[in-house]
Amino acid sequence: MAIPREKVEEILQAARIEEVVGEFMTLKKRGTNLIGHCPFHNEKTPSFNVNPARNIFKCFGCGKAGDSAKFLMEHEHFTYPEALRYLAKKYNIKIEEKELTADEIMAQTHREKMLNINDFANKYFVDSLWNNEEGKAVGLAYFRERGYLNPIIEKFQLGYCPKPEDAFTVYARQHGYSEELLLEMGLTKNGTKGLYDFYHGRVMFPIHNLSGKVIGFGGRTLFTDKKIAKYFNSPESDIYHKKDTLYGIYFAKNAIVKEDDCILVEGYFDVLRMHQIGIENTVASSGTSLTIEQIKLVRRYTRNITMLYDGDAAGLHAALRGTDMILAEGMNVRVVVLPSEHDPDTFGRDYSVEEVKQYLKEQAKDFIRFKTELLLKDAENDPIRRGQVIREIVESISVIPDPIYRVTYIKECSRMLDMPELTLTNELNKLLRAKFKKSLGPEGDALPEENIVATKQEEPIEEQLPIGYYQERELIKLLIMYGKTMITDERKDENGEKVTELVSVAQLIIDSLKNDKFFFSDPVNAKIFNLIDKAIDEDNIPDDQFFVTNEDFDISELAANLLSTPYKLDNWESKGIHVKTEDDLLKKQVLAALYRYKDIILQDRCRKIEESIKEADDEVDLLQLLKQKKIYDDMRWVLNKELGIVIAK
Ligand code: CTP
Ligand code: MN
Repeated sequence: MAIPREKVEEILQAARIEEVVGEFMTLKKRGTNLIGHCPFHNEKTPSFNVNPARNIFKCFGCGKAGDSAKFLMEHEHFTYPEALRYLAKKYNIKIEEKELTADEIMAQTHREKMLNINDFANKYFVDSLWNNEEGKAVGLAYFRERGYLNPIIEKFQLGYCPKPEDAFTVYARQHGYSEELLLEMGLTKNGTKGLYDFYHGRVMFPIHNLSGKVIGFGGRTLFTDKKIAKYFNSPESDIYHKKDTLYGIYFAKNAIVKEDDCILVEGYFDVLRMHQIGIENTVASSGTSLTIEQIKLVRRYTRNITMLYDGDAAGLHAALRGTDMILAEGMNVRVVVLPSEHDPDTFGRDYSVEEVKQYLKEQAKDFIRFKTELLLKDAENDPIRRGQVIREIVESISVIPDPIYRVTYIKECSRMLDMPELTLTNELNKLLRAKFKKSLGPEGDALPEENIVATKQEEPIEEQLPIGYYQERELIKLLIMYGKTMITDERKDENGEKVTELVSVAQLIIDSLKNDKFFFSDPVNAKIFNLIDKAIDEDNIPDDQFFVTNEDFDISELAANLLSTPYKLDNWESKGIHVKTEDDLLKKQVLAALYRYKDIILQDRCRKIEESIKEADDEVDLLQLLKQKKIYDDMRWVLNKELGIVIAK
């Protein structure tokens, strides 16, 4: 249920970061801050900082940063609402769950009924496996035959659905469960001879949610008849959404955190096997291709995914599906391909744990590298197919949010594909531009061609940040810290008369950028830009806490990071410049940041135009280029004059 926004604010304001963090680790006072050993990475000297004044934490070792809620999400793996509820309880804030409508009450109790009947069915199947004659002779024997031992059968609550064909349905009806509910949950079906158990004669896999409740089932037939579906699965319901579910996540989540890696397999038995041999950070997507929701689920625990796939061609190509989505979430993806004829289940059965671990270690291949190799092999010497391959790979690279990684991959692929880096970079930039325009909406057309990524050949990776990256960050910092603050702005009105008016720092910056068609190239910066732009329209400019406590992880992390590095307004006085007021000081800072940003972008645009001018062989083109260059030059001239005035005034 949603917690109203005002409540969220109240909770986050009441929460004292030092108290919240203090419950989980020892903190020592240092100056106005507190420090400790970071719980998120191993370190000998403490670099984990808690800043009570700003109500945030930041680790200068691993970079994790945020507010109380973020800390709980990282440390306790809470969801955002869970963290808020925890804090509300700690600070005695009542969350009036908003009045439920009659429909909502019905829905709520219905969910409970669904969980209840699943729990009842699960107990019945488990009991049948261990105590029913048929269950033991057929079901348990089947698991045994495939090499599964009691601990794993018990842990995963495997079961069996025995004869007669309606045994369970009758039993459930005797215990007061309605026919309607049984049918709705897919436990019972209506046939020509009346009601019967959907799963009769099958071994049962209960599917657990994160808190260990049974939300659905998979049932495997014991016949080898190809005409019968090997698995029957629960239908979608209010409690079971296939796309949000990973089989085994409840049993794997702690190991995923510990190993900082999630091994992804395809089937129920693959999960069982990996857990049985002690590789417990394993979950399955249960046959369907991966969904974005499943990826987000994994991302709560780790940034690393290792996909373990069968060695056959279908397995290989399955590995390609859905992977761009994982990359786009900023996760590191590796692929391990098993020897042909094996799936993780048989591989774990036929080899020792050490051998399996060794294989995983040696064979894990970075996804982009894997994809490149695989597609290249497919394309062989077909030049047309080769062109497609290149585009597909660059497409994968383009979804990676971190520009530094993108550049690294371009270099790597340039080697593998035997293509000039520049060609790949151009292809990449085309895609990035298209995406960026889309993310900006219709106004995106105004995006200057040159503004996306400036990757020159031969440059060291560290320098391959987008042009103006630091200047962008500087503006974002001012927007976050002082966005609301009003300063006096002097400008000329239509009649050339000088007018002085009060304007917010946010409006000054955003308007100035928009007027001259500058847009941030870093996606997180762009998100913040758009947020504030909208807020100005609504006359509701947020303060720094809004960003620090933002639900969008990227935004809150950036904000906490920016706020943690101490920031003083430039000491202009020491440069012999007289500053009258605080207002004056801030304004100087804002204008200087704006001018520096624009100047560096324009400088880059000019450089690119000069290159084109050198290469232009068409007179009309040349004229056009020269005209454009003149415009940029003029803009820079004005900017630099203004910058001089700002600094000297
Ligand atoms: N699956 C399904 N319905 C099917 C076939 C498969 O839901 N008719 C899902 C199951 O989650 C299954 C996974 O896809 O675990 C992988 O399918 P498969 O490799 O055929 O099954 P295994 O788990 O390997 O089962 P087994 O080893 O018993 O053949
Ligand atoms: Mn199998």
